[in-house]
Amino acid sequence: MLRSHTCGELRITHVGQTVTISGWVQGMRDKGSLLWIDLRDRYGITQITIETENAAKELVETARTLGREFVISVTGKVVERYSKSDKIETGAIEITPDKITVLNPALVPPFTIEDETDGGDDIRMKYRYLDLRRNPVRKNLELRHRIAIETRNYLDSLGFLEVETPVLIKSTPEGARDFVVPSRMNPGEFYALPQSPQTFKQLLMVGGFDRYYQIVKCFRDEDLRADRQPEFTQIDCEMAFVEQEDILNTFEGMVRHLFKAVKNVEIPTLSRMTYADAMKFYGNDKPDIRFEMKFVELNNVVKGKEFKVFNDAGLVVGICAKGAAEYTRKQLDELTEFVKRPQIGATGLVYARYNADGTIKSSVDKFYTEEDLKNWVAAFDAQPGDLMLILAGEENKTRKALSELRLEMGTRLGLRDKNKFACHWVIDFPLLEWSEDTNRWHAMHHPFTSPKPEDIELIDSAPGSVRANAYDMVINGVEIGGGSIRIFNKQLQSRMFDLLGFTKEEAQAQFGFLMNAFEFGAPPHGGLALGFDRLCSLFGGADVIRDFIAFPKNNSGRDVMIDSPAPIAQAQLDELAIALKK
Ligand code: AMO
Repeated sequence: MLRSHTCGELRITHVGQTVTISGWVQGMRDKGSLLWIDLRDRYGITQITIETENAAKELVETARTLGREFVISVTGKVVERYSKSDKIETGAIEITPDKITVLNPALVPPFTIEDETDGGDDIRMKYRYLDLRRNPVRKNLELRHRIAIETRNYLDSLGFLEVETPVLIKSTPEGARDFVVPSRMNPGEFYALPQSPQTFKQLLMVGGFDRYYQIVKCFRDEDLRADRQPEFTQIDCEMAFVEQEDILNTFEGMVRHLFKAVKNVEIPTLSRMTYADAMKFYGNDKPDIRFEMKFVELNNVVKGKEFKVFNDAGLVVGICAKGAAEYTRKQLDELTEFVKRPQIGATGLVYARYNADGTIKSSVDKFYTEEDLKNWVAAFDAQPGDLMLILAGEENKTRKALSELRLEMGTRLGLRDKNKFACHWVIDFPLLEWSEDTNRWHAMHHPFTSPKPEDIELIDSAPGSVRANAYDMVINGVEIGGGSIRIFNKQLQSRMFDLLGFTKEEAQAQFGFLMNAFEFGAPPHGGLALGFDRLCSLFGGADVIRDFIAFPKNNSGRDVMIDSPAPIAQAQLDELAIALKK
């Protein structure tokens, strides 16, 4: 062993012992007669102190050649520090070295390896192995490890088996775009990397593994955002002989266990909200319920006066921001600019202040009397000091825009505390959604999701109103996971593919293996998958999942450290029978 202790381990009780520690040189100070080295490893920092006049000449010379990030090994005596530091855990001691061995010199790092680094994102990604030496990054990965362990403990205690499913599978048209892999032995044919192990976990249910889970890589070629990576990890789970209630209870239990075991946070029983209510009251299928500020529909309150914008709108809807009546003109202009941004798409913002003195002032006073505005106050149940913010327009677009404004106001009013956790289920998702782009129905969750038995009769007459046994777990406005009870009957599965516009032949070619399996004794089953990276970043109080992945991709899907994706040699292309378009 090149060490007897780590750099975070030595305490006052070790004083007098001769030890060997190894690590990276965090920094050096040379005051002539005294020379200090801070030595760092994963566990902490230990100070090495050399009294140059009393130490061996060779040792002092070696010490003076050291630079930042040199890898060294130090053998010496643990002594009590004259002036102790309470900033580091080893602050009561230091080491008087007998021997310093340079295990490997290092170039000057391109950014400082400290908690607050001077390195920008790009450079840190290029030298990710140096970034990994920094405490914040290391702590994120330690957190990730802890969550994985506790997930396994919980699921193992309930009899779940972790089973691996293949990574080279087959491309399917539903969902996001696939990453595909050419096959040398089958020219012109391609594997696809799994977007999730969905069909395999269902086949495991047919195979009798009635409680499955896997912490598994998934791949989706979609546009990237703060909470999306092209390869990400799911806690993927499936159970047989269950109903929706069993799944909700099992995984509510898991998340509560994780919060308790990892963060020592008690999460109350998860509340449930239907998809219809989520859209009606929050304009969003993943509402952040750390704060109320529910939508108030105003069509019956505001229409019929001279204000054309409201009269012409499909929906007039607003929120009441508690205690924000004193917002300045500048702040209100900022909010107006915010909702008019192309990503939000509102045409304007109407506001009404319910002042502390009981007067009401709106941005549309021309069209509404004091009496009218009192009706607004009643509709919002506003109190003196509140600010009413109203949007109008086409129904879906307006709900979506107000949802963004609600989140913005939540942030501005400090209602989205990262240390507060509001977890809940959104249930009763529609089975299908209509796509204007492709002019056909799409599965809202995926094509294997079961309609609610009581809605099956609507499947031909009103497919859009069929609800599914599908659910999402939402924490602080983030979709942490989703799943459903599955179809396990060949006829119903085949009917589903019809609805989604597959011909019989296409359905057979793509998913024949699954439908055939349903004819060999498939048990009723269902499950869900949690986004593991999202869960980690939520636990870590961050929005960006990249910081919780050891080697992430950047926003263009590139790994800038290994420089990938990259062209391949002509010989490789030839072998794979691939001709690139000129
Ligand atoms: P779904 O597609 O909803 O369901 O994915 C489950 C969860 O995975 C996370 N997630 C992502 N995380 C990071 N980057 C991405 N690109 C990304 N895409 C999804 C989300 C999401 O809630 N097979 C079904 C599950 C099931 O029905 O059992 C599935 O994959 O947190």
